[in-house]
Amino acid sequence: MTNVVTRAGESLSARLKAATRDEHERTESSSFIVDLVGGRLDRDAYAALLGQSYLFYAVLEQAGETWRDDPVVGPFVSDALVREAALAADLSWLRGAGWRDTLTPLPATRRYVDRLRAVCFDSPSAFLAHHYTRYLGDLSGGQIIRHHLRTHYGLTEDGVRFYTFDQVGKPKLFKDGYRGLLDALPWGADEQDRLMAEANEAFRLNRAVFDDLGQANGAGPTPS
Ligand code: HEM
Repeated sequence: MTNVVTRAGESLSARLKAATRDEHERTESSSFIVDLVGGRLDRDAYAALLGQSYLFYAVLEQAGETWRDDPVVGPFVSDALVREAALAADLSWLRGAGWRDTLTPLPATRRYVDRLRAVCFDSPSAFLAHHYTRYLGDLSGGQIIRHHLRTHYGLTEDGVRFYTFDQVGKPKLFKDGYRGLLDALPWGADEQDRLMAEANEAFRLNRAVFDDLGQANGAGPTPS
């Protein structure tokens, strides 16, 4: 596979990371996330995060199924990443058998799900933007979050299966492979730009969910 070198002379994976750096920084500084990893929330707040996550992962992963055999974005769709069953297991453990009845989408989750439905089933770059933002995040900051969940909330296996990628092996190697796939995409500048724009949108949608969760669970105000 030949790597597509972009206009700026950088690989697409490097450009995507650079293009989303500001949004990433704002997102990881969301007060809900900061308070969660700082041990200032409780298991209920964490379960609320998983509940909202279940609602948007279900749609993202439905979209993934429709792209599985696509020659361009199909290779990104990996069973090792799929989170729906892990989220269901965590929620069942944290909330009990009736956990599904406790799921109510927050306004920002509705907007996120609406956006996923609107773009991820038709546009390969939009699908990939949302796929990248969540799964590479889960394999990166998600592993840091998991460590804090263990330290502050006593969660080791049950309840944190969402952050446990049993079939991924070493996250770094997996992420390197993912970046290799990004760099081999046969897309021209316009599609690459659409990928980056939608990835930034994905970060904003995630941040809005964290902000709603923060308000609902007593996290401090998000710094502007
Ligand atoms: C406690 C919160 C977080 C921390 C400490 C954190 C930290 C990090 C770190 C250190 C990396 C670099 C990993 C590497 O180069 O291999 C990374 C990458 C990434 N994070 Fe986060 N993160 C957090 C939250 C999030 C959230 C909430 C999202 C998305 C909703 C996210 C999305 C991403 C993505 C997409 C990447 C991959 C960047 C790339 O290499 O292209 N992160 N994060």
